[in-house]
Amino acid sequence: MLLGGDESLGSVVESAVGEAEAADVTVDRSLDDEPQPASGTNRKMMAAVAMPREFCIPRSCPIAAGHCGAPEAGTIWAPPMAAAARIVGAMGRLDRARIRDAVRMIDPVFLNTPQFECGSLSAALDCSVVLKVETLNPVRSFKGRGTETVMSNLAADGRYTSVVCASAGNLGLALAYSGGRRGFPVTVFAAETANPLKIERMRSAGAAVNLAGADIELPRVLAQEHAASTGSYLVEDSLDIGTCEGAATIALELVAADGNLDAVLVALGGGALASGVGHVLHELSPGTEVIAIQPVGAPAMALSWRSGAVVNTDTIDTIADGVAGRHPIPEVLQDLLEVVDDVVLVSDDTIKVGMRHLFDSAGLVVEPSAALGVAAVLEDRARFQGRRIATIICGSNVKRSDFERWVLDPRG
Ligand SMILES: Cc1ncc(COP(=O)(O)O)c(C=O)c1O
Repeated sequence: MLLGGDESLGSVVESAVGEAEAADVTVDRSLDDEPQPASGTNRKMMAAVAMPREFCIPRSCPIAAGHCGAPEAGTIWAPPMAAAARIVGAMGRLDRARIRDAVRMIDPVFLNTPQFECGSLSAALDCSVVLKVETLNPVRSFKGRGTETVMSNLAADGRYTSVVCASAGNLGLALAYSGGRRGFPVTVFAAETANPLKIERMRSAGAAVNLAGADIELPRVLAQEHAASTGSYLVEDSLDIGTCEGAATIALELVAADGNLDAVLVALGGGALASGVGHVLHELSPGTEVIAIQPVGAPAMALSWRSGAVVNTDTIDTIADGVAGRHPIPEVLQDLLEVVDDVVLVSDDTIKVGMRHLFDSAGLVVEPSAALGVAAVLEDRARFQGRRIATIICGSNVKRSDFERWVLDPRG
């Protein structure tokens, strides 16, 4: 469902909530009494009134608290409406000066990644397709930009000696890299069903990996408990502002190299990538549409964005493990409401076709999450026809047997 120009927001929210409830999910109705904008209000304006009643500063995250301008770590801050308006005016938790600072904190191996218009993919998709390739680095995903930012801040802060996170694999691998090179022991909690290649790569990069649960949600709780009991610093992906700032540096490069982008298509999981990239584009290239994409089998953040309130889902069913979560983080949803223009859902079958296109046209071996942008074009060709778009190729940690089955075997 898209928000049309003259559609009543009330009906949009109700219909998205209805969509969520029909999909057997839980809607957090804590925003229900918030003022509703008049009809015709666009999604970014809606963010201005959908401010969560309380802004939670993560208790284990003094640096993130500092970024938010909150009085001190460990407090729950409930801004009055005037303060809320100021926050919205400044576009959520992100700040361009801090994003520029992040560039200097990140190992150059993650920076200035290849960006080029792929002719054969453009021909296949009937639009100009710019690829921003984030896979040619030691961790094979964009997550290194965020973990470098977090760990650089943490090393300067000096209060912590170890770190922990929950991860489907790419954050854990990136944290193992960034923590390891700064002498921090790294613990990762991952699901028992996590991609074995990612688990193996995290362990070989030096992380202590613990497996529990069927998806990312139990590991998230266990990582919080681990941080509370050991004093380790908890890197909560997308909530920890450093993860968003690091991801945002991708967009600095995108706009510096290409001032003519009609749309940027971004994979959406916890939201660090979309909120970071969206923030920079919103400020530096306001005419560029920011489109975030989730798989239909893991739509929690998409449903949340559409309804303007956190929607929790019960199950996950997708091959795109990097973007699969069930419990969106309210603060990140708020950021996304402010800087993302649209969120779309795509099927796993189309994701596989997208992976095939990237392999055939660009010679790229990518994991499913990295093909979400191409999949979005494939599912709505008319929308993108003749336009200039960019998509971020955000990871390539895919098992050989999966790649063979999904991409090389025509029966898929
Ligand atoms: C390859 C890949 N793409 C996309 C994402 C989604 O990023 P985010 O969680 O910042 O939304 C992830 C998250 O780990 C990922 O590993």
